[in-house]
Amino acid sequence: MGEPRRTILITGASAGIGAALARECAGRGYDLILTARREAPLLALADELIAHHGVVASVITADLAEPGAPAALVEEITSRGLSVDGLINNAGFSRTTGFLSTDPADHAAMIRVMLTAPVELSRLLLPGMTARGWGRVLNVASLAGQMPATGGDTLYGPIKSFLIKASQGLWLETQGTGVHVTALCPGYTYTEFHDVNGSREQVSSAYPKWMWMEADRVARIGWDAVEANRPRVTPGVANNVLAALGGMLPDALALRMVGGHAKRLDRL
Ligand SMILES: NC(=O)c1ccc[n+]([C@@H]2O[C@H](COP(=O)([O-])OP(=O)(O)OC[C@H]3O[C@@H](n4cnc5c(N)ncnc54)[C@H](OP(=O)(O)O)[C@@H]3O)[C@@H](O)[C@H]2O)c1
Repeated sequence: MGEPRRTILITGASAGIGAALARECAGRGYDLILTARREAPLLALADELIAHHGVVASVITADLAEPGAPAALVEEITSRGLSVDGLINNAGFSRTTGFLSTDPADHAAMIRVMLTAPVELSRLLLPGMTARGWGRVLNVASLAGQMPATGGDTLYGPIKSFLIKASQGLWLETQGTGVHVTALCPGYTYTEFHDVNGSREQVSSAYPKWMWMEADRVARIGWDAVEANRPRVTPGVANNVLAALGGMLPDALALRMVGGHAKRLDRL
């Protein structure tokens, strides 16, 4: 008897790194449940994965900024007779308008989409994974979470730091259960992210091409890391150097470094 088929739930699968992770997982033979708010790109991606890889790909739309959305999503998955063997918490966005100029509703949405939803989905889905003795949780954090601050985008870095620490805690708790947990910490990646937060022009002119990575490469590195059960992975040499500096420099110097970055991007 061969290996049983495994199903991976990916949040934020309608674009960018989430869509790249869907292609990566389908290429490795995993079935998928794709979720985000926009149905059309999810359906198009599902059709592509079914046609190219012969996997099962289901689509469920959800707005993870809505309270209760993670529980409703899991209920819908269960009512369709599906179960989740792997969870990719990837949905996310940022606001670069400064703390006081950002709508409090946007702050609440950032926290719900990138912090509350990953916690709730993990709590709901991990029991099934540990009971079956096989599971994968990949939390898409950021290089920003390894920096001392993200000026002008004040909550984004701390939310991603939370995700890294929470992943490391879960990694410890799941040792020996067959469940692997990884925080993926990309740096600048070509996706819709900087179009959504309106900073495409600034980041493109402020940062050279060698600082950017393609989403499919980030996805491959992320999935390799969770298969290898590495608690954290930062893709790319430049990003690893920056992450090391972020953790090593004294506060005053590190804050000057990220403050200069925020000023270059017109965020301070
Ligand atoms: N691009 C980078 O440079 C970069 C660097 C480091 C980390 N990251 C992280 O990578 C992850 C993916 O971002 P990306 O770069 O691929 O950006 P992207 O292309 O803008 O994709 C973001 C995804 O999140 C989904 N999403 C946003 N708000 C949502 C909500 N309220 N409910 C459900 N889904 C929602 C979007 O789908 P809908 O709009 O259809 O809902 C989309 O599928 C994020 O967590 C981001 O913080 C990105």
